[in-house]
Amino acid sequence: MKLYIVGNWKMNFSVGEASVYLHKLQQKIRTSKEVGVIIAPPSIALQPLTLQLDPKKIKLASQNGNYHDFGAYTGEVSYTQLRGLVDYAIIGHSERRYLFCETDKDIRESVAAAIRNQIAPILCLGETEVERTFGETRDVLRDQLVGGLSQVAVEDLPKVMVAYEPVWAISTTTSAKIASPDDVSDAVQFLRQTLTDLYGATIAKKVPLLYGGSVKPANAGAYLTIPEVNGLLIGGASLIAEQFLGIIETAKRVAS
Ligand code: PGA
Repeated sequence: MKLYIVGNWKMNFSVGEASVYLHKLQQKIRTSKEVGVIIAPPSIALQPLTLQLDPKKIKLASQNGNYHDFGAYTGEVSYTQLRGLVDYAIIGHSERRYLFCETDKDIRESVAAAIRNQIAPILCLGETEVERTFGETRDVLRDQLVGGLSQVAVEDLPKVMVAYEPVWAISTTTSAKIASPDDVSDAVQFLRQTLTDLYGATIAKKVPLLYGGSVKPANAGAYLTIPEVNGLLIGGASLIAEQFLGIIETAKRVAS
């Protein structure tokens, strides 16, 4: 399967800075059939960036969206409004779940709304540190996976990507909190098995499974060579051109 490198810029860069940064990335990225590069800039930068985007090199994702199509939802941007601007949407990121109190309903409705609007969902899930300590990782992953996909028709499943992002391993420099390849391997195997139980092996193996949480050029290769890992979701390191480009190069080496 193709590998995917997704950069989540979170709430960083002004529109001008985003444009300069995209220019820098596009100068250096060579197109590849084996590695898909996706960036998720802040929503305010999406439309301006489409004017300079080379879609053969990079695709755009939103970091979020509202599942209502239109209406009295002050401050929100819907998947219907994002349609045509982005190919992908990050949905259910732990910062949305825990800082902005997004519910399981918000997430499953968002996955359905994205698909309805021809946007491929990148469904994020992962356990917190407390859940991990209490041995609840698999329960959490199963609940978030089954819940997030509950409105997805079987034929639409291959449009979805699933990103395993253990909350305790996001944006950390503490080595004890960096997820080990074994941690990631256990989780993604469990996710693949759960998808297989739900939808059968043929469909389950079409769903790219990504890993995210403190990925850097130095550890990207170790995660990408885990069987069942089909890509990476990168926060901090996606904001530094040398690091993001380095990870893309690693993915190309692993893919070839
Ligand atoms: P990080 O962020 O790479 O900075 O840990 C990952 C994410 O939150 O998606």
